[in-house]
Amino acid sequence: MDQQGQYGTDGTFVVQSGNRLEGEVSISGAKNSVLKIMAATTLAQGRFVISNVPRISDVTYMAELLVAVGSDVHWSGANELTIVTPEELTPIAPYHLVKQIRASISLLGPLLARCGEASVALPGGDDFGPRPIDMHLQALEQLGAEIEVSHGVVMAKAANLIGTRVVLEFPSVGATENILMAALRAKGETTIENAAREPEIADLASCLSQMGASISGAGTSTLTVEGGNELHPVERAVIADRIEASTFLTALGVAGGEIMLRNARLDHVDMIARKLGEMDMRISPSSEGLWAMCDRRLRATDISTLPYPGIPTDMKPLLVALLAFADGVGIVTENLFAGRFRYVDELVRMGADIRTEGQHAIVRGKESLSGAPVEGHDIRATAALLVAGLGAEGTTEVSGAQHIDRGYEKIDEKLRGLGADVSRKL
Ligand code: EPU
Repeated sequence: MDQQGQYGTDGTFVVQSGNRLEGEVSISGAKNSVLKIMAATTLAQGRFVISNVPRISDVTYMAELLVAVGSDVHWSGANELTIVTPEELTPIAPYHLVKQIRASISLLGPLLARCGEASVALPGGDDFGPRPIDMHLQALEQLGAEIEVSHGVVMAKAANLIGTRVVLEFPSVGATENILMAALRAKGETTIENAAREPEIADLASCLSQMGASISGAGTSTLTVEGGNELHPVERAVIADRIEASTFLTALGVAGGEIMLRNARLDHVDMIARKLGEMDMRISPSSEGLWAMCDRRLRATDISTLPYPGIPTDMKPLLVALLAFADGVGIVTENLFAGRFRYVDELVRMGADIRTEGQHAIVRGKESLSGAPVEGHDIRATAALLVAGLGAEGTTEVSGAQHIDRGYEKIDEKLRGLGADVSRKL
């Protein structure tokens, strides 16, 4: 895989506030969809062509994992990946690659299905707290896999997988996807109850169906898979990234202006759009994507994160940043990842009035914040600091650009295209 120049390397964004956002921006393919589709390519031998792939470093890391198991992966266009899966794979995802990207756990289900065994290093926690995979493992055991976790590696084996009924304790995105992919090689029918309903899961299921799988209920909380179908490679495009689209909406909320989010879909950002509407932003769908306008200081509101179709946990740091400028007090409640508040201290250094208590953040909006050097520690937190910089007096320097590059394609260029004063220094 080729390198991305300055992208994906350590760096700092330098943001000057004061410019309204005007114009159009193209929303890239969804990170959390393409990573799973890439994992799914291991299920069938042959040549896959995936288009609308974002040029982000998580895609590079997932490509390295695919190369490690034996696939050939290369860019065949600006945003097109060609992946050739060989007849024989080495179903081992080693720690030095897994630690770069948590989504590598998505290889467990498909590798087990394809090879009858898989060995994936444990991804561990991340900056916003522990990230257990107990639900993935329990469900694979229910399908008949023998699982052993030792020396930091999950080893799964199954001569045969047998279809079964899996009831998830919580609609976990990763567990739903792993079970779905493993079940494709199980004998008979598997149902997943309390499945996650994220659009990225529906996109993965649609890709798997195109590959020849029999899946019903994609996008609902009950998925049914009839195992055993012969799978073949496909050519397909990735859906637009709803979190990137929503990120630009929060940027608009801070900077003001009028923008068109090309390719964005209102049905994927329904709840966010409703919340931003309550706060006085105007958003409407158009044939090209989503149009949005913000011509006033937004009103504060309360926000609670929930699995889709609720407000995504990934949007929480961005919404906290937005509320830091809003008129009034907003209470933000995190219901998915308890520790996801580290960026708050950085916003406070910029003058924000935010108090956290357990899973809640109480945000008292201010008319303005003041630019400062700040540091982000994960993708969305770093993006939130960048967004806050658009409204903070003077200059904000956001270090941790490499985190943003994991999930956003050229965010600085895209913001500049809308008129923002954002640059990057190494
Ligand atoms: N959970 C368990 N046990 C499990 C699996 C999950 O307790 O076996 C818990 C988690 O600890 C968490 C909750 O269930 O409290 C939800 O986790 P989920 O499994 O749904 O998350 P994930 O699959 O690990 C994906 C996205 C995240 C996004 C979450 C929630 C990918 C690669 N990652 O993670 O995206 O926050 O769903 O929507 O799809 C990001 O893009 O920045 C990102 C972190």
